[in-house]
Amino acid sequence: MHTIAVLPGDGIGEEVVREGLRVLETVSALTGFKYKLEHYPYGAEHYLKTGETFPDSAVRAMKDHSAILLGAIGDPRVETGMLERAIIMGIRFGLDLYVNLRPIKLYAEHLCPLKGVTPSQLNMTVVRENTEGAYTGLGGIMKKDTDNEVAVCNMVWTRAGVERVTRYAFDLARERDGAKRVTLVDKANAIRPMDIWTRTFARVHEEYADIDTDHAYIDAACMWMIKNPDWFDVVVTDNLFGDIITDLGAMLQGGLGIAASGNIHPGKVSMFEPIHGSAPKYKGQNKACPVATVNAVLTMLNYLGDTEGADIIENAIASALRTKKIPSLSAGAVPTDKAGDILIEEIKAQAAAAG
Ligand code: IPM
Ligand code: MN
Repeated sequence: MHTIAVLPGDGIGEEVVREGLRVLETVSALTGFKYKLEHYPYGAEHYLKTGETFPDSAVRAMKDHSAILLGAIGDPRVETGMLERAIIMGIRFGLDLYVNLRPIKLYAEHLCPLKGVTPSQLNMTVVRENTEGAYTGLGGIMKKDTDNEVAVCNMVWTRAGVERVTRYAFDLARERDGAKRVTLVDKANAIRPMDIWTRTFARVHEEYADIDTDHAYIDAACMWMIKNPDWFDVVVTDNLFGDIITDLGAMLQGGLGIAASGNIHPGKVSMFEPIHGSAPKYKGQNKACPVATVNAVLTMLNYLGDTEGADIIENAIASALRTKKIPSLSAGAVPTDKAGDILIEEIKAQAAAAG
């Protein structure tokens, strides 16, 4: 029995998580995946009521679950980034979820803004380092709001940190069907200390002689992702660079309405979320696209070993998009609950076809 912590969070989080959970319920009735949900209230509403963002006790509580499903965090009534840092980064750092796994997969040609790119040409996974880089909080501001103000943000990379995420990327490439290539994306030409990535990558590669490698600086990677997206299979990169290129990747696969991520520490409780934000202007309007959250559920099932359930959900998403029952991943294209209904119908149709 798996226990899943559910944190719907802010804005559209609640609506999209509701659909994600309906899909989970439908698919687990077919596969026999057993789970129990536990809901947590953290987010803007809870903070404004209690003054609490994400207490240590919550981090401890998360450790007692198999996985965490998170909706979205962020609210205009609260200081910019405060809740995101406390909750999203609190979970990533608090549980040492060093891999941010972001699949970028095109399910239907018409969803891609690039001309002539087919689904077989766009199927990559970005492995974003998730606990170091510019996100550690090392740094600060002095003489704030004076003419002499100084702001410092350190980018931090450790040998152990770079090595473990690189190893994860190579292991992932090994499991892939077809091409098995890991591309390192860095900026070691301009940012010389980033050469720790170059050297670590080369060292780890020695243990994976069967896997091809490639390299691109982050600026060029942005160019190649547009020009030749089929060059990429598995990409491993720094935290901030991974944050940026996965928004680009989301657009290539049709929009933020589909992109999901797994925040993973192999073998430990891990967190799954859509990569979009809380989109406060759509809150409560039944307009948000729930496909990204459903995709997060799929990524979670894969992680928990229910690959059958994950495949069923993936086929349902692919079919709903190809047939244009869900014609686009933009907000308002299909009402949130209706999109959930469509995916559930697709899942039931698959089950019926399989007899
Ligand atoms: C993401 C988000 C977060 C990040 C924010 C909300 C802190 O953009 O998950 O990609 O920068 O990692
Ligand atoms: Mn981001």
